[in-house]
Amino acid sequence: MVSLRISESLPTLTDQNTLEVTSFCPRNMIAQVLLAALVLGLAAAQQTFVFHTNGTGGVECGKYHRCSTNATCENIKGTHMCECPHWLEGNAKIFCLPHPDHKVWIQSDPHMKNFHNEFASLRSPCRYKVLYLYITDPEKDLIAEVELFGENFLFTGGDYFLTNLTLSTRIFYGTEFMRQAMGFEGNVMKDVDGEGYSYLLVAKSVEMEFSDESDSESKSDIVPEESPLLLYTMDVEEDVLDNLLTVKIYGLGISIYFRPPSKGEGLNNLQLPLVPGAVFSIDDTHMKKVNIEKSQYNLAAWPQGPSLADLAKSLKVSKPVYIQYLMLNNSLPIIPVLDPEPICHEIDTSFQEKCNSTEIQLYMLKTCPSIYADKTFLECLTEKNTEEEYVSAQREFFLDCELSLCLKDAKACEEMKKDMPIRTKCPLPKKIEELDCSSLG
Ligand SMILES: *[C@@H]1O[C@H](CO)[C@@H](O)[C@H](O)[C@H]1NC(C)=O
Ligand SMILES: *[C@@H]1O[C@H](CO)[C@@H](O)[C@H](O)[C@H]1NC(C)=O
Ligand SMILES: *[C@@H]1O[C@H](CO)[C@@H](O)[C@H](O)[C@H]1NC(C)=O
Ligand SMILES: *[C@@H]1O[C@H](CO)[C@@H](O)[C@H](O)[C@H]1NC(C)=O
Ligand SMILES: *[C@@H]1O[C@H](CO)[C@@H](O)[C@H](O)[C@H]1NC(C)=O
Repeated sequence: MVSLRISESLPTLTDQNTLEVTSFCPRNMIAQVLLAALVLGLAAAQQTFVFHTNGTGGVECGKYHRCSTNATCENIKGTHMCECPHWLEGNAKIFCLPHPDHKVWIQSDPHMKNFHNEFASLRSPCRYKVLYLYITDPEKDLIAEVELFGENFLFTGGDYFLTNLTLSTRIFYGTEFMRQAMGFEGNVMKDVDGEGYSYLLVAKSVEMEFSDESDSESKSDIVPEESPLLLYTMDVEEDVLDNLLTVKIYGLGISIYFRPPSKGEGLNNLQLPLVPGAVFSIDDTHMKKVNIEKSQYNLAAWPQGPSLADLAKSLKVSKPVYIQYLMLNNSLPIIPVLDPEPICHEIDTSFQEKCNSTEIQLYMLKTCPSIYADKTFLECLTEKNTEEEYVSAQREFFLDCELSLCLKDAKACEEMKKDMPIRTKCPLPKKIEELDCSSLG
């Protein structure tokens, strides 16, 4: 029941080099064999894997949702909750994983539950870094760097959902070196004939580079079959029951499970039976090999802390302000991959170059993020404008706000307050309305 074919026209993708995997039935032996064959081909750069699934997930639970297949629905003090079986844990509406694994959840609207089991609201339309890990294994003469980015989209109604993930790695193993990056996205559509939903899951290879110091001829965009690095490549599969894109790096004990939201299908993402979201997990053995000094502190934090709340306190700001600070301050990739969206890139670089002290950065972040978070404003923005209009208007508004506050430019601030209601067709977010530009000096 599995067919592979090269597809030339996909609505969201321009690649000609696309492998399409259609499997509308639970995985069987044939599927396993075909997928194993795929893993080898996967190493080639510029490939796109497209999966179609229409699983129903597990039991119904509450008004709108269903649990993942391994979970049960429990009535806890009158509220229906999905619960993982006792030997597993997690957000049982997304996936259940073994206890010892360390997990970062990016769930529903989206909010994060990080390695430290701490919640963080991710209100930003620009790419943010979830984690950067530096893993060493002297026994194997191995250094592995892993970087994960998320990107949300602001939907009509003013809610964000995680639409894109980008995973990149750099691996040094003895004399061999590999660099790989993949982007993940998808879509949900209502079945034409009624109740069900169809999922489109996409994994796009962005970068693949292999070389061996001891062999100058080895430079390639494919990892040789005999190389130990094959175990460190990204293995992409689909979960046909729970409609999850599954990405594994076996050599590092890393898995990602990702279920996309619906893009522009007139479906309310808050009410989809299977909630959109993702989980990054790394097993305990490999978490212990993470060199914290050489890694970066991101939203994922560390299992043993410090927490986002502690660090917010040390800077004397609220946790939401600190989260916005981290998202902007540590947004630039350490492993060079994709070019970010231009306005977002300008927002990121201006944060470093124009907001030239932490004090000014935090001052700016007490006001400007209301452009990303003020619910009344976001509802209006997404209702009065087309998608194309509001996506650019929101980012330009933030950039204007950032520059006028960081450069203490009272005139630019006045202009922003005058222009933005026209540009966005909406009243200013409350915090911007209350901003006294003349106080900028
Ligand atoms: C989830 O349930 C399926 C089917 O019952 C089973 O094959 C699978 O091993 C379970 N997964 C986990 C992680 O326990
Ligand atoms: C992710 O999002 C961007 C838009 O910001 C899009 O251009 C890109 O193709 C998406 N998909 C992947 C797989 O990276
Ligand atoms: C999934 O799609 C297949 C093929 O179109 C169809 O036969 C099957 O009934 C669908 N399953 C569900 C649960 O909708
Ligand atoms: C903020 O960014 C600067 C410059 O990249 C870096 O030195 C600093 O460690 C970052 N702060 C935090 C808290 O991550
Ligand atoms: C920030 O930039 C201004 C000029 O743009 C300069 O006067 C000031 O000394 C700079 N501050 C720091 C901390 O670099």
